[in-house]
Amino acid sequence: MPEPGRRVAVVTGAGRGIGLEICRRLARLDHTVILTARARVSAEQAAAGLGKAAHALQLDVTSPTGPAAVADEVVDRFGRLDVWVNNAAIVDDDGTRPSTMGMDAIAAVLDTNLLGAWRCAQAALPHMRRAGYGRIVNVTSTLGSLASVTDATDPAYRVSKAALHALTRVLAFEAAGTGVLVNAASPGWARTAMGGPDAPLAADEAAATPVWLATLPENGPTGGLFHDRQPYPW
Ligand SMILES: NC(=O)c1ccc[n+]([C@@H]2O[C@H](COP(=O)([O-])OP(=O)(O)OC[C@H]3O[C@@H](n4cnc5c(N)ncnc54)[C@H](OP(=O)(O)O)[C@@H]3O)[C@@H](O)[C@H]2O)c1
Repeated sequence: MPEPGRRVAVVTGAGRGIGLEICRRLARLDHTVILTARARVSAEQAAAGLGKAAHALQLDVTSPTGPAAVADEVVDRFGRLDVWVNNAAIVDDDGTRPSTMGMDAIAAVLDTNLLGAWRCAQAALPHMRRAGYGRIVNVTSTLGSLASVTDATDPAYRVSKAALHALTRVLAFEAAGTGVLVNAASPGWARTAMGGPDAPLAADEAAATPVWLATLPENGPTGGLFHDRQPYPW
């Protein structure tokens, strides 16, 4: 069991990239961190690098039952569930276009990036509401900002993140007054498998805004989209 008062955080897609760096920062901020990954071995290897405060669980966010099983296990083992970061995501293959992208490929992106986050929020919220405290962070992208669409690239990814923004808003309204804050965090373009080697930010730098939203004080914002810790147009 963690020490009383020590926050417990779950992060999806935490075996590598920005998710792993979110976990590293949360561990430094004295959180007990549950790294989840599709492959148990990735979660275990990543957690092993973060010390005693880190634990590994298997979670594929496309599993209909996986998120609830993880939320329940975390509460059973650690006594609480304070923070859930929906970080796991996939992106369209290079060169896809909205008029030609296959429906199966579109569905796969939506299943991970939108429905995965939705399943996880449904799993986490009952525990958070009961405790009167929770922080849900949906890791998104400026590519999902309708105000920023200026070309036809990454259609399913953009649509999934735009819909994730809508999900953020409706969850925040539902949770209003319960102590649960729900926000979307754009990490910025970072050097990960998804971002590629030319990105300006290190994965650790990209973890800053998600972690800020994961650790908001009681009077922090809810239902917002933030980039570089600043409100960003939807
Ligand atoms: N990098 C950027 O420049 C950038 C910019 C804007 C937004 N973002 C957002 O930041 C977040 C993290 O991206 P990243 O750059 O760190 O990407 P990444 O290196 O490709 O990592 C994505 C992570 O998501 C996991 N994942 C994919 N499908 C999953 C599933 N069904 N269930 C559980 N985990 C799954 C992957 O696990 P596996 O190891 O099993 O594949 C991997 O750990 C994403 O939400 C992304 O949209 C990134």
